[in-house]
Amino acid sequence: MRKLTMEEIIGVVRGHAYGHGAVRVARHLASLGVETFAVATTNEGRVLRNGGVQGKIHVLGNCQPEEINHVVENDLIPTICWSNALKTVPANKLLTKTGAQLKVNVNVDSGLSMYGVETCQLDGLIQELDALDVGIESIFTHFAGGLTDRSGNLDQLDHFLNCTDPYVNKNISRHAAASVGCCQMVGTELDYVRPGRILYGISTENDFPGLKVFKDFDFLPAMSVFARPTFYERVPPTNGRLGPKWLASFACGWADGYSEKLSHGIGSLRNNKTGQLHALVGRVTADECNAALRKQPRSGDTFTLLTADYADHTSPAWMACTLGDSPAEVTSAWSRRVPRVYVRQGEVVNITAGVDL
Ligand SMILES: Cc1ncc(COP(=O)(O)O)c(C=O)c1O
Repeated sequence: MRKLTMEEIIGVVRGHAYGHGAVRVARHLASLGVETFAVATTNEGRVLRNGGVQGKIHVLGNCQPEEINHVVENDLIPTICWSNALKTVPANKLLTKTGAQLKVNVNVDSGLSMYGVETCQLDGLIQELDALDVGIESIFTHFAGGLTDRSGNLDQLDHFLNCTDPYVNKNISRHAAASVGCCQMVGTELDYVRPGRILYGISTENDFPGLKVFKDFDFLPAMSVFARPTFYERVPPTNGRLGPKWLASFACGWADGYSEKLSHGIGSLRNNKTGQLHALVGRVTADECNAALRKQPRSGDTFTLLTADYADHTSPAWMACTLGDSPAEVTSAWSRRVPRVYVRQGEVVNITAGVDL
């Protein structure tokens, strides 16, 4: 495979960068040479622009007519898969702020069967866009298969290439590979790649067999979540079976993104000094959780709720595979209200009260 350049990467920072903070992540990617970003909604695009992010910003969700104002105002590139998105918009609104032709992305359904224009209808849509005097920035597709379904993704790629080949000489770029395509090197020869999860070291797979395959790519999650006890007390032994123990409270609950499904010992916290795991006791409430400790916590003890690894009970991948979520859901769930500490090569570079607030 040829070596990709940073300019060929579309950095996907939707869902506040899968929990990591879209503005900070986009700025960091820009400092590495990435020039194009993707979000899911026009509002996410506005947040990036307000945060000073320059370059192209693709909005991957289906554009709605009422969003065109925001698209133009924030210099975004919307995605469409039918012309209805633009037909009710007056022609004089389908222009950029400088009066240039508005450009859109066209999303093609090459087998995902969720959204995107059917391949047989692509030509008709392109003619309709011509008639509306709307330009096309890129045509893209999204693969349905996971890491263990390379042949399915190759079939989709073939389908996509066949229906888009007539447009390659018209200054329209094409892209297909998100994280899975990048790992499988399917679609990576096109004009751009469009990774999201692997930028953050998040597994693309939702089950333990798939996770085993993902681990071989040597990605490590970028995000961990730490907490200190806000209160602790000694609790009497239960039925005389357990020795005396301590109950520690942490100001972190499901409103922060710590899943309620981890209640009653499904989840655990790791003591950062001893490495010991401490099971959650009772329910994870909106703003709090409790863990059982054998010993009184020492002043300054910190605990990890979400570990940047693949460990049982504490890692996003383990939580996802156990709780039936996806690993990206586990990191994306972390609320914008949770303070973030950004670290680069071991150095703290920024501390924020929350993300993109
Ligand atoms: C169109 C499109 N491109 C890229 C991505 C990024 O996907 P991933 O996080 O798997 O890399 C997504 C996410 O679903 C998407 O919908």
